[in-house]
Amino acid sequence: MEKRIQNSYLASKVMPADRAAAEILPGMIVGMSGFTGSGYPKAVPLALAARIEDAHARGEKFALRILTGASTAPELDGALAKVGGIDFRLPYQSDPELRARINRGEIEYMDIHLGQVAQYTWFGFLGKIDVAVIEVSGILPDGRLIPSTSVGNNKTWLDLADKVIIEVNSAQPAGLNGMHDIYYGTALPPDRQPIPLVRPGDRIGEPYLRVDPSKVVAVVETHGPDRLGRFAQPDDSSIRIANHLVEFFRHEIAKERLGQQLLPLQSGVGNIANAVLSGLRDGGFEGLTAFTEVIQDGMLDLIRTDTIRTASATALSLSPEGVEEFNRNIDHYHSRVVLRPQEISNHAELVRRLGCIAINGMVEADIYGNVNSTHVAGTSIINGIGGSGDFARNGFLACFVTPSTAKNGAISCIVPMVSHVDHTEHDVTVIVTEQGLADLRGLSPKQRARVVIDNCAHPDYRPLLQDYFERACRDSVGKHTPHLLGEALSWHQRFTEIGRMKP
Ligand code: COA
Repeated sequence: MEKRIQNSYLASKVMPADRAAAEILPGMIVGMSGFTGSGYPKAVPLALAARIEDAHARGEKFALRILTGASTAPELDGALAKVGGIDFRLPYQSDPELRARINRGEIEYMDIHLGQVAQYTWFGFLGKIDVAVIEVSGILPDGRLIPSTSVGNNKTWLDLADKVIIEVNSAQPAGLNGMHDIYYGTALPPDRQPIPLVRPGDRIGEPYLRVDPSKVVAVVETHGPDRLGRFAQPDDSSIRIANHLVEFFRHEIAKERLGQQLLPLQSGVGNIANAVLSGLRDGGFEGLTAFTEVIQDGMLDLIRTDTIRTASATALSLSPEGVEEFNRNIDHYHSRVVLRPQEISNHAELVRRLGCIAINGMVEADIYGNVNSTHVAGTSIINGIGGSGDFARNGFLACFVTPSTAKNGAISCIVPMVSHVDHTEHDVTVIVTEQGLADLRGLSPKQRARVVIDNCAHPDYRPLLQDYFERACRDSVGKHTPHLLGEALSWHQRFTEIGRMKP
């Protein structure tokens, strides 16, 4: 550990997690590290949860506003939610305990574009950050911090918090040193300057995070792995989705709208997006790049095989096997992967400049191309919008992928009207299910509806959608985007009442 903490002043701040957690008081706003299960603090949140539980047992109120990069793990979100220690959470989550409490209305949750969290904080919309709790993989002699497996919003929390608690995790590979690129040139309007990044692999900052040592109240030593789940193996459905996309990219190359190396890929979280990337490996592409938010197993595999030459992201989000592969061949990945703050990895200016091809999972799409990425039946959140909006709104292509049905066919993922809108018909360009691909570019609403129903809907639901659309074209008051308003959400209503969308 001495090797990991090379600054003597910060070494003098080393203490057990429970003493560090005592710096966090009821009602505080706490900015923590962590992004899709990686780089989150492993010890302080657990010690904090124990403190909160004790306080509640004494009849005292103790809850916090918790801000992170994205989702974390059971040791953070799960533990704090379980003891009722969170009263407000942003910007993304995927923990079952936390999700259940949000959907029971016990915790306020703000679902916000991940690329915008830093500027929201700098503007003061989220309140003053009292404490930052940040996992790093080491501390340099000059006090700068070697980031961990995710960067997320750490720069912002370190800059703005009154007090800082650092966790130094010696289980994170020392080879992470030098892989990060922390850009210190952001500013608020009207002082913003163009961000000088023109290729996904450009390094525009420095490899380390800065921290004012006088703000550091504790350093805690840990030695534990990121707790990450496994991805579902690509199944017949996700392989067919990948094949449709590959065929579409080949078509775009033939039309000379894309070059052989495509454009920088962005691939979203989840099983389906992961499986689609695995499919691209067999698509015969070479020399690709990625400008994305997370590197999941599917993308790691493309980097391993040099199908992707350079990948920019804010976090690794790998299965245990993916972590093993990454650590074993870290030299290979070191020269190909750049990890950045999420305000840069997801920056609208950069996504637009680079012309990213955004590929994200979704819950459902409607016949006109509006996409719901977050809510079941319009009211219960699954995870959150994450970075899908940052990329879909600004990318060159906004592709959304899903199997055409969910819950063993009880749900159609193509519906008359989405029950919640995350991405509007104005942003969504391509919808893909295992049934086929709908290219929505250049189409009016009614033209889009025909393509979505014909190409993407499951045969069990296609006649129902056709029938809805034909009656809407006949009976709708306005004929531009025909709808039968009393019926448009009846599929969801039926699902909540009898557990299936079909009559
Ligand atoms: N209605 C109800 N539930 C649905 C559904 C629908 N139309 N479509 C999918 N689901 C459920 C699945 O049944 C599954 O539930 P389970 O965990 O109980 O089995 C769950 O949603 C996940 O679906 P899955 O098919 O395994 O897809 P996924 O792992 O690829 O996740 C999203 C899909 C939409 C949940 C995921 O992509 C997501 O959270 N997206 C938003 C964030 C994002 O896009 N970030 C990208 C930037 S990195």
